Amino acid sequence: MSFTSETVAFPQDRTCPYHPPTAYETLRKSRPLSRVTLFDGRSVWVVTGLAEARALLADGRLSTDRRNAGFPLPTRRFQGLEIRRAALLGFDDPEHNTQRRMLIPSFTLKRTAALRPHIQRTVDRLIDEMVAAGPRAELVSAFALPVPSMVICALLGVPYEDHEFFEEQSRRLLRGPEPSDVEDARRELDGYLVGLIGRKRREPGDGLLDELIAQRLEAGEIGVAELADLAAILLIAGHETTANMISLGTFTLLRHPGQLAELRADPTLISSAVEELMRFLSIADGMLRVATEDIEIGGVTVGAGDGVVFSTSLINRDDSVFEDPDALDWHRPARHHVAFGFGIHQCLGQNLARAEMEIALGTLFERLPGLRLAADPDLIPFKPGDTIQGMVELPVAW
Ligand code: HEM
Repeated sequence: MSFTSETVAFPQDRTCPYHPPTAYETLRKSRPLSRVTLFDGRSVWVVTGLAEARALLADGRLSTDRRNAGFPLPTRRFQGLEIRRAALLGFDDPEHNTQRRMLIPSFTLKRTAALRPHIQRTVDRLIDEMVAAGPRAELVSAFALPVPSMVICALLGVPYEDHEFFEEQSRRLLRGPEPSDVEDARRELDGYLVGLIGRKRREPGDGLLDELIAQRLEAGEIGVAELADLAAILLIAGHETTANMISLGTFTLLRHPGQLAELRADPTLISSAVEELMRFLSIADGMLRVATEDIEIGGVTVGAGDGVVFSTSLINRDDSVFEDPDALDWHRPARHHVAFGFGIHQCLGQNLARAEMEIALGTLFERLPGLRLAADPDLIPFKPGDTIQGMVELPVAW
C-alpha cells in the first residue's frame, strides 16, 4: 500500500455535530488504515476499519502508556506536560488489570440495574424543575450535565454540592485551552479528592469511594494518591461523556423527526436506539495508542514506536460491516460498534452509561412531547474536534 505525501490533519472539527468531519472522506476511502498528521506535524497511523480496530485494540503490543516514545498527542494542550498518567487508561497490563479488578464489581449489569430507580428519580426531578421554570431551557446545564453528574456523585459518595468545582476542572482538563489549564486542573482535582478521602477516613459514608477506602486503602493494597487517581477518572469519565451523549443525542433526534416519531410510537426501541446513537455519534472520536513491537495488519506494518489513532466515527461507519452507515436506523445490529472502545480498556462504565442514556432520553421525549430546538440548528455551538464531541449548549422549548 502506498500513501501520497498529502496526509489529512487529525483531529478536525466536525462540520455537522453528528457526522465525521467531511475532510475525513479520503480516510474512509483508504480503509482500513491510513496516515494522518497531528497538530505537531507528526505523521501517525489512523485506523478506520472495524475488524482491524477490534484486532488492534485487543493486541497487547499496543500501549496506552504515554511515557512510551512515539505516543501520539492529539492537541497542543498536552504538549510538554508532565501530567500524571490517568489511572486505568494510562496503564498497560498487569498494573491496569490490578486497578480494574478493584472496580469491576461496582459496574456489573446487576449493580447498574439496581441504580435505575435512583437514575429515574434524578431524571424526573430535573424535568420537573425544567417544566416549572419553562417553557424554555438550556438543556446542557439544566439536564444533560446534571443527570450523569448527580448519578456518579451518588455512586462514588462525592458531595454533589461540589459539582461546580469538579465540572470546571473536568472542562479545563478536556478542553483547555492552555497546557497550564490541564496541569492546574489535574492538581486542583487531586487536592480536592485527597482532602475528601481524608474526611471520609474519619467519617465514612456509603459510596464506592468509602468501600475502596475500607477494603483497599486501610488494607494497604493502594495508597491515597492511587485512590485519588481512580476517583478522578471515574468522576470525569462518569459525567462528561454521558452528558455529551444526552445533549448530542437530543439534538440528533430533533434533527431526525422520522426516527424520533418511530421511537415515540414504540418506546421499547429505546435500548436499540441508544446503541445506534452510540455508533452514529461516536463521541470519543480518537483513541490513542503506540506500538511497542512491529505489527502486520490490513496490508501494512505498524512499526515499533509508531503512533496509532482510532477514529471511532469512521470505524463505526465501516460500510463493509454496517449497511448504509450514514443513516440512523434503530433496526440495524449496531452492538459491535467500538464507541465504548474494545479490549482491556473497553469502557468500564458502559452499563451505567447505557442505563443513564435510556432513562434520560426516553423520559425527556415522553414527558415533553412538544420538545423542539429554540435556536437555528446551524448556529447552535458544538464542541471542537480535539475533545469529546457534544453540544456546548442546547436551547430548547416545548
Ligand atoms: C456514553 C458515555 C461514555 C462513552 C462514549 C465512553 C467511552 C469510553 C471509551 C471509548 C473508552 C476507551 C478509551 C480507550 O480505549 O482509549 C472508555 C474507557 C473508560 N470509561 Fe467510558 N465512556 C462513557 C461513559 C463512562 C462512564 C459513565 C464511566 C464511569 C462511571 C466511564 C468510565 C470509563 C473508564 C474508567 C474507562 C477506562 C477503562 C480502562 O482503561 O480499563 N465511562 N470510555
